[in-house]
Amino acid sequence: MTDRAPQQILTVLARLVEERTGLHYSERDRDLFEQKLADHAAEEGYPTLLELYYALRYDDPDGEVLDRVIDALVVGETYFFREARGLEVLLEPLIERARRGEQVRIWSAACATGEEPITMAILLDRAGVLDRVELVATDISPRALERARRGEHTRRAHRAVPDGMPPWIQVDGDRAIVDERLRARIDWRRVNLVDEAAVAALGRFDAIVCRNVLIYFHDEQIQRVASSLARALQPGGELLIGASESLLRFGSMFQCVERGGVFLYGVTS
Ligand SMILES: C[S@@+](CC[C@H](N)C(=O)[O-])C[C@H]1O[C@@H](n2cnc3c(N)ncnc32)[C@H](O)[C@@H]1O
Repeated sequence: MTDRAPQQILTVLARLVEERTGLHYSERDRDLFEQKLADHAAEEGYPTLLELYYALRYDDPDGEVLDRVIDALVVGETYFFREARGLEVLLEPLIERARRGEQVRIWSAACATGEEPITMAILLDRAGVLDRVELVATDISPRALERARRGEHTRRAHRAVPDGMPPWIQVDGDRAIVDERLRARIDWRRVNLVDEAAVAALGRFDAIVCRNVLIYFHDEQIQRVASSLARALQPGGELLIGASESLLRFGSMFQCVERGGVFLYGVTS
């Protein structure tokens, strides 16, 4: 990047991105935002960020320009068995319910390239109930979802997989490849968490995992998304967020319970 973009353009672009995706770039993150967008604009052949802004605002009937901007901006860092204890604790009672023949629905919201729902699929399969649980995985990034559906991951994403796991994931050179049977059990869908209607259309879940995405949103947006997630929980359902995240500052919408060292959120009645 050589010429700096005028601050006003960056401000309107940041506002547009936040309005459409929830991703919040504060003044402090402006350099990073500018760098990512300028690289993207150059790759896509826009001479300046102003041209990119016009394309986004006035010439994007199918949302394709925005989709590519989203792919350029999102942080998709994830790996198999990330903070796995939280997933194990969340799934424990659901595995019991599935064994009793009850219907169980679980949603991995903002699943990136799929390592999180695949980890849950492995834990459910190990418990012998994968075929009895509905597992929905969503993300806003078309590119990340495409990779998730193909089941091709980096070797780095395999780094926390415990030894002695059955061969659900095969490492081949720089890649880790997930068993087709596991991938086929997951219902992969594109959902923008700030789109309340799209979230409502998913129906209700016994458990929602929404980790390491709310950190990119501003408080007001977090509260709106948290309300959508609360509405998407069955009575008695539980929400797991990232270990470094908290919803307690948003009042009484959720009650937080500790189970086995893990904090889970349930809707207050
Ligand atoms: C750091 S990854 C988290 C992946 C996984 N949940 C984990 O904890 O390992 C953040 C993901 O949030 C997604 N994301 C960002 N904004 C979103 C939005 N408005 N709706 C849905 N997903 C979003 C990004 O595309 C990215 O894949």
